[in-house]
Amino acid sequence: MRCVMSPRVDQSVTRAPRGEKAASIRPSRTPWLDHWLETVADLSALTASHPMMDAVIDEIDGRMIRVGDKWLADFASCNYLGFDLDRDIIEAVPAYLEAWGTHPSWSRLLGSPVLYEQIEERLTELLGCEDSLVLPTITHIHLSVIPLLAASGTVFLDARAHKTIYDGCQVARSRGAAIRKFRFEDPGHLDELLEAERDPTRLVCMDGVNSMTGNAPDLRAFAEVARRHGALLYVDDAHGFGVIGERSAGEPCTYGSRGNSIVRHVGESYDNIVLVGGFSKSYSSLLAFIACPTELKQLLKVAAPPYLYSGPSPVASLATVLAGFDVNERRGDELRATVFRHTRRVLDAMARCGVHTPNHSGLPIIEIPLRDHERIDAVGRLLFDRGVYVTLAAYPLVPKNEVGFRAQLTAANTDAEVDALIAAIEELAQRGELQPAASAPPLRQAA
Ligand SMILES: Cc1ncc(COP(=O)(O)O)c(C=O)c1O
Repeated sequence: MRCVMSPRVDQSVTRAPRGEKAASIRPSRTPWLDHWLETVADLSALTASHPMMDAVIDEIDGRMIRVGDKWLADFASCNYLGFDLDRDIIEAVPAYLEAWGTHPSWSRLLGSPVLYEQIEERLTELLGCEDSLVLPTITHIHLSVIPLLAASGTVFLDARAHKTIYDGCQVARSRGAAIRKFRFEDPGHLDELLEAERDPTRLVCMDGVNSMTGNAPDLRAFAEVARRHGALLYVDDAHGFGVIGERSAGEPCTYGSRGNSIVRHVGESYDNIVLVGGFSKSYSSLLAFIACPTELKQLLKVAAPPYLYSGPSPVASLATVLAGFDVNERRGDELRATVFRHTRRVLDAMARCGVHTPNHSGLPIIEIPLRDHERIDAVGRLLFDRGVYVTLAAYPLVPKNEVGFRAQLTAANTDAEVDALIAAIEELAQRGELQPAASAPPLRQAA
């Protein structure tokens, strides 16, 4: 396939038949509902009609998925290490179910199976932090821990932080905290805002590896600014944990070793840093953690509502985390090298085609914005027809100049699947659907 960035858009792609799903949202006369229907009109139209939105997956075979009668290579999974399909992990689960049943149902305060102690011990060792606490999801952690740490002080919020961090900040605001946004990837702007702030209680909230750009922030620079101004730095590395880790001479690729997350990857200490991460991506399990000093952990055990009141993770998830630690120790670096190689192939092909992506890190999240945001439906259909399943990033989930699709590479993808993704990207480039590398608009700043 010749890679030519053509400005002409082939309209034939739009003539693909509409999907079979019926439009799910009807007009109404209720003002609040009308407001929301208008806000999400693009997304709900796409969701109602597009085979790659809100799809029912009928069957899987490795990283191939079947939707209706169509088999597609899945690049929408965040199971980066392929642990969801790993035989050693799958086979470890039944023994835990025999021992513990399927679900303890106690909130953690009422009683935690010893599996939690084992997980926190191993996690603390892996991360090299003082202590750690696990709760069902990162969302639970943001909504409960950010308001606690913010108290009635000031939160400095990364303008492009994940929605769940925003939600945690909204709860903090409702309890009296002030919110100030700093520009994405701009420690200088954070420095200015902190310099001008008189409030002594300061919390900085940001993402580690960004779920859209696939890049990691300059954490050392942010940590330096936060420490200099006496602020606590709270980092969500949902996508980095399991993928990036400590650097060493013998590392198999630039992701580093052990997958022990961004703080270790950049060689930082945990002084004044609280790290949050999840097992629901690389470890394919419903569980999340906060790495923090023991003093804070003890406070959360009596003050964080998910510890006190929420239902726990299912036993199968605790089992897959523990078995995942074993596999990570034995084969994790090998799996990360595979993810790295797949990602490199796609990024190299895109560079040859002159196609823009914000990814400059080589990490396995590749966002590919469209030249024209209105072509999202047609482009998604072409990808579906070519047997490639990706995440569609539609407006208003992203700003209009970033509407496009996102592909994640995992160790469970095969070379043939990656070939199919590359061929589809090349075809879209040739049809003039993608943004050329040189003229890509800068990321919109929400601050
Ligand atoms: C950066 C980031 N934070 C938090 C979450 C939510 O994680 P959880 O499902 O554990 O609540 C996600 C999920 O996609 C994410 O990408």
